[in-house]
Amino acid sequence: MSAPKTMKAVVENDAEDGVVVKEIPIPPLEDNEILVKVDHVTLHVAALSTTGSIIGCDYAGTVVEVPGSVSHKRDHIKIGSRVAGWVHGGLFKDRGAFAQYLKVPADLTFPIPDDMPSDQACTFGIPFYTAFHALKHSQKGNWPPGKDHSWFLVYGGSSGVGLFTIQLAKMMGHKVITACSAGNFDLVKSYGADAVVEYKAGENAINEIKQITGGGVHKALDCISLPESNAFTIACFAPGKGQMNVILPPDAAAVSVRPDVDVQSTLLYTLWGRAFEFGPRAGPKMPLPALADDLKFHRELVARIPEYISLGFKAPPIEKRGGIDDIAQGLADMREGKLSGSRYVYTIA
Ligand SMILES: NC(=O)c1ccc[n+]([C@@H]2O[C@H](COP(=O)([O-])OP(=O)(O)OC[C@H]3O[C@@H](n4cnc5c(N)ncnc54)[C@H](OP(=O)(O)O)[C@@H]3O)[C@@H](O)[C@H]2O)c1
Repeated sequence: MSAPKTMKAVVENDAEDGVVVKEIPIPPLEDNEILVKVDHVTLHVAALSTTGSIIGCDYAGTVVEVPGSVSHKRDHIKIGSRVAGWVHGGLFKDRGAFAQYLKVPADLTFPIPDDMPSDQACTFGIPFYTAFHALKHSQKGNWPPGKDHSWFLVYGGSSGVGLFTIQLAKMMGHKVITACSAGNFDLVKSYGADAVVEYKAGENAINEIKQITGGGVHKALDCISLPESNAFTIACFAPGKGQMNVILPPDAAAVSVRPDVDVQSTLLYTLWGRAFEFGPRAGPKMPLPALADDLKFHRELVARIPEYISLGFKAPPIEKRGGIDDIAQGLADMREGKLSGSRYVYTIA
């Protein structure tokens, strides 16, 4: 094995805003796992982690160990391949993206296209998978694309999830209307949005969406999923049936105003097919079940990601912010709402 015995990792220490960089053992591999030397990661706000776990989900890196027992035999499962994906960070003491080395199941990492730099590849993690999880798996959207040219609402289009959702909804054949800050209008249009409104305009923005779409939408993803964004998104639905996805638990009061709209909460971590609970800072205990169908979808999605990326998906704009020791500051900046229209990316040496 070409890896040393220990590595640096960002570990949840459960103090307020608390993460700490620690030197810990490189984890032993489990069945069908390979070891990746991580080179770039991108951040999400960590509020759900359990104490002592390695945090971080989205990564890009290079394969450094493939045990002979690994049965998954695709071309990129070999030492030296560049790979990317996401893991369930913040749950395990020996598995998380914000570390120099990461163990991943061989069938749940994808090869980075030759012409894509790793600092962009690491953004094709949670936000990219979330768009597919909501639109393709949950809403059973048009794929192959082309049959349905109706309007699709992407609330929060300038977020990481939003920029990938705009692209996917367009590829599915929809016209896309999105809501973000005025300063990000040009950005969301450059990712394919046909129309954009300023969400801070509240009721006026909702009326504008209804006017542009000829009475409202029948499909939407709320990429922010706060009570106020749930309320905004559901108010944009046309009369009749609709499908709305949220990516955190929905606000019951907000979404109950339209019982004819099917509101589904799609939480990406269920794609690992195991039951789990979030850490203490996430609030009341909320056990999530093992969903075998989600794991099946996850495997099928990963196998097709190179094909999907080749359809023309663009990475969100990135902002390089330093190395592993700088991640805590990035998380603090994100909690203060400083991130807008880009992803913070860190180089892991
Ligand atoms: N289902 C899942 O498993 C899943 C997956 C990914 C993310 N999430 C959750 O989804 C949320 C978004 O994640 P992300 O990584 O995509 O976000 P992000 O890129 O970090 O979000 C930053 C963006 O959010 C926008 N924003 C913030 N507050 C807003 C509001 N009230 N209304 C509209 N836009 C707002 C900002 O837009 P402007 O600057 O234009 O205002 C900014 O561009 C997070 O809470 C995350 O935990 C859940």
